[in-house]
Amino acid sequence: MSGLRGRDYISVASFSPAELWSVLELSRELKLRAYSGERVIPLLSGKTLMLIFQKPSTRTRVSFEVAMKQLGGFTVTANWTELQLGRGETVADTARNLSRYVDGIAARVYSHRDLVELAEYATVPVINALSDLEHPVQALADFFTIWEKRGRVHGVKVAFLGDGADNVAHSLILMAASLGAKISIATAGGYEPSPRILEIAEERARSTGAEIDVTHDVEHAVLGADVVYTDVWVSMGQEAEAERRIRDLSPYRVTKEVMAMAKPDAIFMHCLPAKRGYEVVDEVIDGPQSVVWDQAENRLHTQKALLALLL
Ligand code: CP
Ligand code: NVA
Repeated sequence: MSGLRGRDYISVASFSPAELWSVLELSRELKLRAYSGERVIPLLSGKTLMLIFQKPSTRTRVSFEVAMKQLGGFTVTANWTELQLGRGETVADTARNLSRYVDGIAARVYSHRDLVELAEYATVPVINALSDLEHPVQALADFFTIWEKRGRVHGVKVAFLGDGADNVAHSLILMAASLGAKISIATAGGYEPSPRILEIAEERARSTGAEIDVTHDVEHAVLGADVVYTDVWVSMGQEAEAERRIRDLSPYRVTKEVMAMAKPDAIFMHCLPAKRGYEVVDEVIDGPQSVVWDQAENRLHTQKALLALLL
């Protein structure tokens, strides 16, 4: 069906810009078909996806399970600790074994290294369902939403406010770089994005015309923005640092005043779950510029496309 069959998606950079576009294009087709009443499109009839979670999930878990069912397939979902992984069976042995039962594995892990190892030893596609480093399936839905709402992606300016070293921010940077968008990250000192992520993004940007910048100045990031994006200041696994993070990142809260610095028709985005009153106030996330529920819905359509292409 495509050059993506059998491939892993553990980073946005696992795919070329053209391959990322092929996922977005199929997402649009599948969403249109779903809205015209085709609930089940059996592209993965009889196939099974294994979902492994080391951390909680609402959207990722449910959207992947529903996506597989709407494609005619099945899912098996398990918590990391209820598998023998929790008793010390290696990631490599788990990967070798699961590959004998299922057609693809999506995993949410603390350490990105575990995903790399899973992908190395599995003989079926491995999808990153969030790690400490990246959230690449989220970035697919995010840029699909931007494409849907703004009619284009190239040249669109995204301002991300908050933790610059956040998994969601990293994947957004790589996606913006791949698709020729502009992204400005406004964050506090010590919370800058991973230098390695920025390096890969800069390299991609040279051929796509993307622009990436990191600043401590909210106004600089948000001025002229088409999209204002934020995520939690305390990600899963960072609870012990909560006090320091909340103190350091408080200047990056998305308020009505911040939205007023962006273009008048700018949209507000958040991967969710939101910690209301911290990174975003109610009047913004519940306000007319917010597209967070469409963005969450698009997880389903984009993951259907991803699964159909990989599996
Ligand atoms: N955005 C996202 O991945 O949500 P969950 O943690 O609920 O899966
Ligand atoms: N950065 C957040 C994203 C949740 C979807 C976390 O890792 O907790």
